Amino acid sequence: MHGQRRIMVTGGTGFLGSFLCERLLREGNDVLCVDNYYTGSRENVLHLLDDPRFEVLRHDITFPLYVEVDEIYNLACPASPVHYQFDPVQTVKTNVHGAINMLGLAKRTKAKIFQASTSEVYGDPTVHPQTEDYRGSVNPIGPRACYDEGKRCAETLFFDYHRQYGVEIRVARIFNTYGPRMQTNDGRVVSNFIVQALRGEPITIFGNGTQTRSFCYVDDLIDGFIRLMGAPTGVTGPINLGNPVEFQVRELAEMVIEMTGSKSGITFKPLPADDPIQRKPDISCATKELGWQPTVSLHEGLERTIAYFEWKLSGGGGTMLSANSLHQAYPNLLLPNAGRPVSEAIR
Ligand SMILES: NC(=O)c1ccc[n+]([C@@H]2O[C@H](COP(=O)([O-])OP(=O)(O)OC[C@H]3O[C@@H](n4cnc5c(N)ncnc54)[C@H](O)[C@@H]3O)[C@@H](O)[C@H]2O)c1
Repeated sequence: MHGQRRIMVTGGTGFLGSFLCERLLREGNDVLCVDNYYTGSRENVLHLLDDPRFEVLRHDITFPLYVEVDEIYNLACPASPVHYQFDPVQTVKTNVHGAINMLGLAKRTKAKIFQASTSEVYGDPTVHPQTEDYRGSVNPIGPRACYDEGKRCAETLFFDYHRQYGVEIRVARIFNTYGPRMQTNDGRVVSNFIVQALRGEPITIFGNGTQTRSFCYVDDLIDGFIRLMGAPTGVTGPINLGNPVEFQVRELAEMVIEMTGSKSGITFKPLPADDPIQRKPDISCATKELGWQPTVSLHEGLERTIAYFEWKLSGGGGTMLSANSLHQAYPNLLLPNAGRPVSEAIR
């Protein structure tokens, strides 16, 4: 490797990881993408494979890894409830053993290490909006605990490695983020609603739809990652990254129906166990320490995301013409194989 920096991204073929790899390559770095393809896919990084500075390694971070790197972004972990609850023990292992392995690597190589933590560490919050000093309200034995408590333990490990061994850490608490390359079946609210609307199926709302969420567009979030990693020594986090503009889930459904021109109606189902009623980040710390705040409105972000899912559901990848025209219409939307001959794209 001979770039500016050698940067490893675990979970690099996933939704956020693929955008991060793209951004790091654009900035002239060597990128090692490490993933076991649990929820990620090669399709998400196909368009990067020709770049000699990009390398993909199939590896499960619950096992140790010996490589030489300058920086590590630890994103590996299924993020949507359907996926992280499918094999809860593996989720805990990814969060805890994975963190130990990656922190061990950072300690040995003296690499700076970033942890993708989550607003789920706040559980069903009793403080609103959530500030970083709020300690959370998590059910340690509920169905979400494998993820919430796994991420909390990972934060503990990050701070213990920092205090005990001087490892340079950056911990981001990520709030609900959406964008192209989310999976069609991952059960997250934005992708769910868009896919249901485009298929003309009823849009499913759990609860009565008055629960609120704040939705951050992926480009804004990745910008926050880069700023946090580049922050001066001593800025460790945890730091909230998310969009503080709050929407009711019902409002989101109505927006998606309108923007897709769908004839879908709305159906209501019971709220799953431990589903938080309110979620909104206080980002004053990110604004002060990193000069960061989101810039993409929900409307603009939904437009780009809907365009992606339209492409994806129409057989995305097989129809180069629509991929190319979509790429022209939305230059910021990097489609997995836009502009490539099909034979090259399906490797
Ligand atoms: N997207 C969000 O709104 C959000 C919110 C909070 C936190 N996060 C965190 O950000 C990170 C990325 O989330 P995402 O939305 O891109 O999810 P994702 O499921 O698309 O990506 C996760 C990636 O990690 C990989 N992975 C899972 N277990 C692994 C293991 N043991 N070894 C190697 N690779 C493994 C998956 O194959 C996948 O590519 C996760 O750690 C998640 O907890 C995301």
